[in-house]
Amino acid sequence: MKVLIHKEKREVVDGREFIVAKAKQYFVTDLSKDVHTLYGTISQQDLSKPSGSVIKSDNGKEFFLLDASFIDIYKRFRKLPQTIPLKDIGLIIGETGINPQSIVVDGGLGSGALAAALAHIAKHVFSYEVRDDCIATSEANIKMIGLTNITVKKKSLYDGIDETDVDLITLDLPEPWKVIPHCAKALKTGGFIISYSPSVPQVMDFVNELHKHDQLLYLKTVEIIERLWEIEGRRVRPKSTGIGHSGFIVFARKIRA
Ligand SMILES: C[S@@+](CC[C@H](N)C(=O)[O-])C[C@H]1O[C@@H](n2cnc3c(N)ncnc32)[C@H](O)[C@@H]1O
Repeated sequence: MKVLIHKEKREVVDGREFIVAKAKQYFVTDLSKDVHTLYGTISQQDLSKPSGSVIKSDNGKEFFLLDASFIDIYKRFRKLPQTIPLKDIGLIIGETGINPQSIVVDGGLGSGALAAALAHIAKHVFSYEVRDDCIATSEANIKMIGLTNITVKKKSLYDGIDETDVDLITLDLPEPWKVIPHCAKALKTGGFIISYSPSVPQVMDFVNELHKHDQLLYLKTVEIIERLWEIEGRRVRPKSTGIGHSGFIVFARKIRA
């Protein structure tokens, strides 16, 4: 898979700067065909050039060719239910310190976005899901990105967790408090739980249930607000569009065997 990037082009006319060609990216999955773009056709032969090559379309427009990286492919995932945005995934990875030795239990799998981001770093991810359409979509996404360390399980997390000695359990389902007793059994001492919920009542019920379990320590609840900025010469200001509220991330830890 390849990525073709056409950079924005500007021209100054009568002292004023105009965008004459907008920035555009193309994700190419079929390398056996020419690619038709807004700025002309890229020939199939050029797609086999090394990553970083500068190639031209049939009408002379310049493109940068890159091998598709993990994140390029990840951004092409087909999405069914709401997925966790990267801003929140970054904090989950940072705060729990998962690494190539980590075992993770995740659920619900949804479109497999969080499971894939975690499997990119961890040793193995076991992800639970109850819906067949989500399992089919996420399995296609996992195959597309080439991950082989995710085990998809058709099972409700409310009924229990099969794994033990788990480093991290990520909960992104409607009633996460129902999974807390199973987390206490499945986690290794020092392991983390994160629960991701869009609404305040879910956070309240989850944290109140956590407090009933001596083995578990409630750490904190975080909402990440991401604000994009527009930089146009000296006109620098926050963008008026962007991700609004996504979800609250609750962190907890198992502190006793
Ligand atoms: C918001 S989505 C999860 C999105 C996922 N984290 C991602 O990044 O793509 C919630 C998922 O939880 C699943 N689910 C609901 N109840 C469940 C349960 N008891 N056990 C496992 N999965 C469940 C739903 O079918 C749905 O796919």
